[in-house]
Amino acid sequence: MNVKKVAVIGGGTMGNGIAHVFAMNGISVNLVETKQAFADRALDTISNNLDRMVKKEKISEDDKTETLGNISIYLDVGEGVEDVDLVVEAVPENFELKKKVWKQADDAAPEHAILASNTSSISITKLAALTSRPESFIGMHFFNPVPVMKMVEVVRGLETIDSVYQTVKETAEHLNKVPVPVNDSPGFVSNRVLMPMINEAIFTVGEGVATPEHVDEVMKLGMAHPMGPLRLADFIGLDVCLDILNVLYDGFKDPKYRPAPLLVKMVDAGKLGNKTGEGFYSYD
Ligand code: CAA
Repeated sequence: MNVKKVAVIGGGTMGNGIAHVFAMNGISVNLVETKQAFADRALDTISNNLDRMVKKEKISEDDKTETLGNISIYLDVGEGVEDVDLVVEAVPENFELKKKVWKQADDAAPEHAILASNTSSISITKLAALTSRPESFIGMHFFNPVPVMKMVEVVRGLETIDSVYQTVKETAEHLNKVPVPVNDSPGFVSNRVLMPMINEAIFTVGEGVATPEHVDEVMKLGMAHPMGPLRLADFIGLDVCLDILNVLYDGFKDPKYRPAPLLVKMVDAGKLGNKTGEGFYSYD
């Protein structure tokens, strides 16, 4: 199947980035939000990120206009998905919320549509089971900032069929991303490998081994990571990191995934990183 039109449900950090890359690669996007104000904010972010690309001469002003012209706003899930080939859900990582959204999307999406979730931590098999077509359900896990990061983790649930995987793989390639196939398992590959590193970095700070700046310097300059693990934790959101660690801890019942006490404390204190202006670093 050739994907010509997608619905992106949710216009937050991940959703607006996902809408941006589909629209920039000539695919019509129905961007679904709950309120016009949230939709306007998502469009503003996309417009600013496109300006950044125009300034760097990666795209032209005309490309920007064309990209924005490929995006239509919907404030109702049912209306947003009724004529699309692919639904990509990028709403917050709350199972009850996803359940509600997927019920509406499953009821209204065309029979041939592929259903994909951008979840970073919830089981694809469990989400697929909420719908009447688990064979057409798959994980399409993008990375932040979506217009920049080159990879999409394509997560096969227990019942995902080969043709669905193949279409999603080709669609990711069309977006100039490298699709990496993985099977459904807690944290998939990305967060199973990334989160223990972030957690261990937080343990070292909590134990007074080094300051956040020094831990980050070790990993940036010693291991050539673009961001140190604590700066990255702030960027991802400390609440998101804690949720994912809990998914790993619960999923494997292995103490090696126990969240660092300092991480729990910071989340309790509302210091969630960039989005609240304070985490391991302060942000204006
Ligand atoms: N849209 C478009 N372009 C963007 C952008 C955006 N939102 N953000 C940055 N860019 C572009 C910049 O314009 C710049 O372009 P050039 O290379 O042409 O100059 C390039 O990206 C680098 O940006 P900056 O120069 O502003 O800053 P930087 O060099 O410090 O890079 C970064 C910023 C790309 C975020 C880099 O620090 C990085 O790669 N960090 C690691 C990010 C990472 O690991 N992300 C994954 C998080 S995990 C996740 O998302 C999933 C999960 O499940 C938790």
